[in-house]
Amino acid sequence: MKAIGVFDSGLGGISFLKEAVRLLPEESYIYFGDNKNAPYGDKSEAEINALSLDCAYKLMDMGVKAIVVACNTATGTAISDIREHLSIPVVSVEPAIKPACERPGDGKILMLATSATTKLSRYQALKQRMIDSSRVIDVPCSGLVDRIENGIFADDAFDDLLDGFLGAYSGEKIDAIVLGCTHYVFIKSAITRYAKAHFEGEAKLYDGNEGTARQLDRVLREHGMRESTGVGSVCFNTSGSMEKYEPIFRMLMSCELE
Ligand code: DGL
Repeated sequence: MKAIGVFDSGLGGISFLKEAVRLLPEESYIYFGDNKNAPYGDKSEAEINALSLDCAYKLMDMGVKAIVVACNTATGTAISDIREHLSIPVVSVEPAIKPACERPGDGKILMLATSATTKLSRYQALKQRMIDSSRVIDVPCSGLVDRIENGIFADDAFDDLLDGFLGAYSGEKIDAIVLGCTHYVFIKSAITRYAKAHFEGEAKLYDGNEGTARQLDRVLREHGMRESTGVGSVCFNTSGSMEKYEPIFRMLMSCELE
């Protein structure tokens, strides 16, 4: 059975992988985290493009049948190049601003992402297609991914950074917060904790992982590649130290996300 390749700049894509394994358990997966080069979000577009293509080629060389770009920053920068160079199906995560904007309300929608994602024309074009894009405020969060890559996930370990990014909206009505980076899904409870203490409104969290896993299902079916029986396997690879990251990958695969 051929596996599905999933990559991210580091740990974040595991949040997608959890969702894929939950919804498509018959499939096998090969994960590649480019932890040596994380974070991507503060690099130039040319660097992100080259690194993302490299991840995709590594997975191709491992013989995968399809690839999931589980990194919003890589999608925004390199998805066209990846699709152009690869002959297998490619699916990718994107900031989930659509379901957030479809939720009725007059409060703000905060879109948290890497600095690169918020600047990219692909994301800006996506935002312009929303019903009421003026409700969406882009919040570049430089520094969050570094902390998460260091294995820090505690609820109270991000207040200083979140205050720097979100303090300006304290006391405002926030209807939704979009987690526009796959790493942020692992600190949902830190973000919820901050939102409860500082915002009015529900501040409901959205991420693109479930939608992307459903899209993967559709694409595999269209190509006649969907495994329908049995239970697949998951294996991990990293450009960093396997000794350091494999235990973190496994811990994140088994942790409960609220
Ligand atoms: N997890 C990545 C994303 O979804 C990027 C993090 C980074 O390397 O800056 O955007």
